[in-house]
Parts: sequence; structure tokens; C-alpha cells
Amino acid sequence: MTAPSLAPAGFAASEVSVRFGGLVALDRVSLEVRPGEVHGVIGPNGAGKTTLLNVCCGFQRPDAGELSWRGAPLRRLRPHHLAGVGIARTLQGVGLFAGLTVAENVMVGADRHRRTGFVSALFGLPRADADQRALAERARAALAELGVDEVADRPPASLPYPVRKRVALARALAAEPELLLLDEPASGLGADEMTELGELIRRLTGRMSIVLVEHHMDLVMDVCDRITVLDFGRVVASGEPADIRDNPAVADAYLGEEAEHG
Ligand SMILES: Nc1ncnc2c1ncn2[C@@H]1O[C@H](COP(=O)(O)OP(=O)(O)OP(=O)(O)O)[C@@H](O)[C@H]1O
Ligand SMILES: [Mg+2]
Repeated sequence: MTAPSLAPAGFAASEVSVRFGGLVALDRVSLEVRPGEVHGVIGPNGAGKTTLLNVCCGFQRPDAGELSWRGAPLRRLRPHHLAGVGIARTLQGVGLFAGLTVAENVMVGADRHRRTGFVSALFGLPRADADQRALAERARAALAELGVDEVADRPPASLPYPVRKRVALARALAAEPELLLLDEPASGLGADEMTELGELIRRLTGRMSIVLVEHHMDLVMDVCDRITVLDFGRVVASGEPADIRDNPAVADAYLGEEAEHG
């Protein structure tokens, strides 16, 4: 008999450690993202936030620790499996392909429901027309949701930074993920754009769980249900926004940063 699984229904990273040579980037970090929740991950520069997202999506293999997703262990996750298991992410910065149009970039993200995609791409076989049409339609819908469908045929480099950020988010949404990992989606945005981003994130919770890595505290406090705070690769606090705001360990982590950089 097998023991009943204790894995939660959402996403969980349990006791994850990552070392880069002598540097401990993550030290037994645990994170639980409940279904439909926005979970913030904050901490000073170099705290390990991006490394944690990289582990969550299989870009970085942890030296120790476990992941689980939808009640089952998530092992041997590779970047090309991501869309198929319902996970999508954005990169810190923008990370669009310069040689592709906006629509093509987003179609790469939308390539989740393909029946023939991966194998046919491998052997250079043509994709079924119906699959191709469905893919194009999901890409168009994602661009429309972000209000950038009119730039579909443009190369990303021709667009202002905030528009490129929207395209990058559309690419992640086009995969129709159930877990969305966002690495500093508000960087480089103005106040109004940030408000719109916050509204979008809250709207998305009806369809997916979200991990939000962000430095903009107002946004984090407004949109997150719970927050995990990292400092030097360790969890120094976790809880609801009000608890995090008043937690002296969090202030200490950021004060250390100011002393270093300011
Ligand atoms: N591939 C790598 N090789 C070596 N060291 C790395 C690598 N990636 C990250 N690091 C180091 O690991 C630590 C955590 O980096 P990480 O990028 O996860 O921090 P972060 O919290 O995302 O920071 P920021 O807020 O600046 O984006 C840093 O000290 C960083 O220099
Ligand atoms: Mg980072």
C-alpha cells in the first residue's frame, strides 16, 4: 500500500537549497502557494528570489528539496515541460525573442495544447492547420487581454519598454497556466501602468495561482494574499501583508541593504 499523498493542492517548494560554488543562494526555503492565491516573494537584491522562481519552473535544479504541484510530486521538471504541466513564467526584464514578431513571440508561449507540436518540431514536420489556428487565436486573445493586440506584427525592439513588458506577460498568459510566476513585472512601469498591472493580477486569480517577485512594496502589499520574505537565501518571514509590514525582521533585511548601497 502507498501512503496517502500529503502534497497540497496548489504549488509547494519544500526545503529547497541551491548552491553556486561556495555561495548558498537558497537555504532550505519552503513556499506554499494555495490555489487562486497571489503569493509575494520579496527581499533585497541578491536574496535569492529569481533563483527560487528558477527552481519552481525547472530552470534551476535544486541541490536539495522537493516540489509538488496539484497534489503530486513534481520531479525532473524541464523548461520545455512547463506549459504542458500548466506553469508559465515571465523573466526579470523582458526576454522576448528579437527575431520574432510580437504575435510569434506570444505563440511560442501559447504552445500548450498542441497535439503534434513538440515531436513535429523536432522532426521538422508541419503542424496540423487546426492546431496552428487555435494557437494563433490564443495568442491573439492574450494580446487583446493586455491591450497590445494592435502591435501584433511589430518586432519587440520597436516598442516602448512598458509595452514590451505587456507582451512578455501576454506570452505567459497565452499558455493558459494554472500557476504563473512573475519576476519583477512592475519594473520600469509608471504609476498608472502599475495600478493596471495590480488590477490585472487580481483579475487573474479567478483562473490561476500567482507567485509575484517584486520590489515595489505598494503593489506587493495591495495585491498579495500572503508574502514570503527572503534574505541571504533564507526565509526570514512569511504571512499576510499586514504582518509582513510590521515585522521587524523584514525591516532589518531592507535596512541592511540600505546600509550597503546607500
Ligand atoms: N547562475 C549563477 N551563478 C552564480 N551565482 C548566482 C547565479 N545566479 C544567481 N547567483 C547568485 O545567487 C544569489 C541570489 O541571486 P538571485 O538572482 O536569485 O537574487 P534576487 O533576489 O533575484 O536579486 P534581484 O532582486 O537583484 O533580482 C546572488 O548572490 C547571485 O549573485
Ligand atoms: Mg531577481
